[in-house]
Amino acid sequence: MSSSARVAPLGTDPYAFQPGYYDLFRASRGEGALPDPRFFAGRAPQGGHALEIGAGTGRITLAVAERAATVLCLERSATMRAVLLAKLAERPHLRDRVTVLDRAAPHFDLARRFDFVYLAGVLEHVPHPERPALFEAIAEHLAEDGEVAMDMVLSEPVPDWPEHVADEATLGDCRYEMSCEARPDGDDQAHLRFVYRTYLQGDLVATEVVERAHYLHRPDAVVADLAAAGLTPTAGTALHPVANGEDPGTLVARRTT
Ligand SMILES: C[S@@+](CC[C@H](N)C(=O)[O-])C[C@H]1O[C@@H](n2cnc3c(N)ncnc32)[C@H](O)[C@@H]1O
Repeated sequence: MSSSARVAPLGTDPYAFQPGYYDLFRASRGEGALPDPRFFAGRAPQGGHALEIGAGTGRITLAVAERAATVLCLERSATMRAVLLAKLAERPHLRDRVTVLDRAAPHFDLARRFDFVYLAGVLEHVPHPERPALFEAIAEHLAEDGEVAMDMVLSEPVPDWPEHVADEATLGDCRYEMSCEARPDGDDQAHLRFVYRTYLQGDLVATEVVERAHYLHRPDAVVADLAAAGLTPTAGTALHPVANGEDPGTLVARRTT
């Protein structure tokens, strides 16, 4: 059987092909796969109102929505939103609680404030010059005693990896594989190339290729931009890195008093 390659050109939605695999690969990694829904859901105030930036397929949304009164999701990828809507369709008890909007940070104005604002697995997509505007937008949407939580605030080196298989999963007769290649591309930035391969009984039947930028956000620079937006870090592994295992680079902040 022949295999065809589909390519998402640079500058188009880097998640165009990923929704079908995103949850599958996370599930294959097992409990604790990052971003960890338990971290974000654990910080969501019971009965509060939450704003999620970059909700994706809703891995975190669903966990937060079990605790929060409402969750408003901003997600710029049409394909990721489609998966989230399909999940919500299967969960009637969440239908009144979760709103999904086609919006991209940092330029959004929702004309209301939230008890909890969070972004999971999103910072790597935010170009450095946009970070101050992102934190200003978050501060403008945060209730006086609200909390913001994020991850991927890390001191790790800029990735420089040859192509290697990063994820794989099997469903029926198909095996899905995602390989990743990274090359440094300027200060605290890398160029990533992902190849998704589908094998049917061992034969390669489909190839999908996505390339995108990966921005690294360092703790000191993030803390400085938070301060400029009137926010002060209160917790997170970005302040106290984990010694063993994969560091999620979490950072929690509140209004500076
Ligand atoms: C790695 S996924 C994480 C999805 C989800 N938060 C999770 O943890 O499972 C990153 C998501 O953020 C979205 N995203 C990236 N930049 C964004 C922006 N500026 N505004 C809104 N969504 C964004 C992407 O489209 C993608 O769905």
